[in-house]
Amino acid sequence: MNILFVGDVVGALGREMVKEYLPKLKNYFHPHLTVVNGENSAGGRGITEDIYKQLLDAGANVITLGNHAWDNKNIFEFIDRAKYMARPANFPQAPGTGIVYVRINDIEAAVINLQGRTFMNPLECPFQKAEELVKEAKNRTDIIFVDFHAEATSEKQAMGWFLDGKVSAVVGTHTHVQTADNRVLPAGTAYLSDVGMTGPYDGILGMGKDPVIYRFLTSLPARFEVPKNGRKQLSACLIQIDKKTGKAKSIERILINDDTPFFMGQ
Ligand code: FE2
Repeated sequence: MNILFVGDVVGALGREMVKEYLPKLKNYFHPHLTVVNGENSAGGRGITEDIYKQLLDAGANVITLGNHAWDNKNIFEFIDRAKYMARPANFPQAPGTGIVYVRINDIEAAVINLQGRTFMNPLECPFQKAEELVKEAKNRTDIIFVDFHAEATSEKQAMGWFLDGKVSAVVGTHTHVQTADNRVLPAGTAYLSDVGMTGPYDGILGMGKDPVIYRFLTSLPARFEVPKNGRKQLSACLIQIDKKTGKAKSIERILINDDTPFFMGQ
């Protein structure tokens, strides 16, 4: 079975890319499970119920989140009824859930969202929380996908090795730049430090570049905005899994932008 994972959707341009390319990617790869990280999908900050539904309509089965999950207050109104949305499981007290189970045809899969703590706000230990949730999920399925929303590559690699052989895949999000370290770890867990971002192609991590450059040059405050027009990109990965064992067979990177119309990295 295949899992398609689309990285951090940023603002309107990101949503346009999902609407345009997700159906095409699904037609091409026939994934059993499609996961989209949507923590920046509403204007670059948080998510709304309308956007959550749009992403599902475009073909996502599960939406994952991250540190910006709470930036749009609308989330507090719909998170309890959003059955297919996972927020970081290691928030100490928050509405919603950090693990979502989906059944597609005869296959059940678990999707877990966790957040790192290195160079990020303090939360409960993501490693202990991962262990707890994996134990719970294993009672139902061996097909377990983890979106680890974290800043530091060291923390992400540590999570990959920590969960090797226990889950099908650990894929990082949050840094918005796709890394080239996709591999299947020795005990059968697919790993990628960061899947990358889906949104503005000519900005800086999804934001318009000028205020970011100004802030670096002057150290003065500047308001960052997500461009509403311009070139766009999509970042994703495709994981092949043995559905009997839950072990990964391969993980490949997907990039779509004007310089790489459709790239799949082995
Ligand atoms: Fe983030």
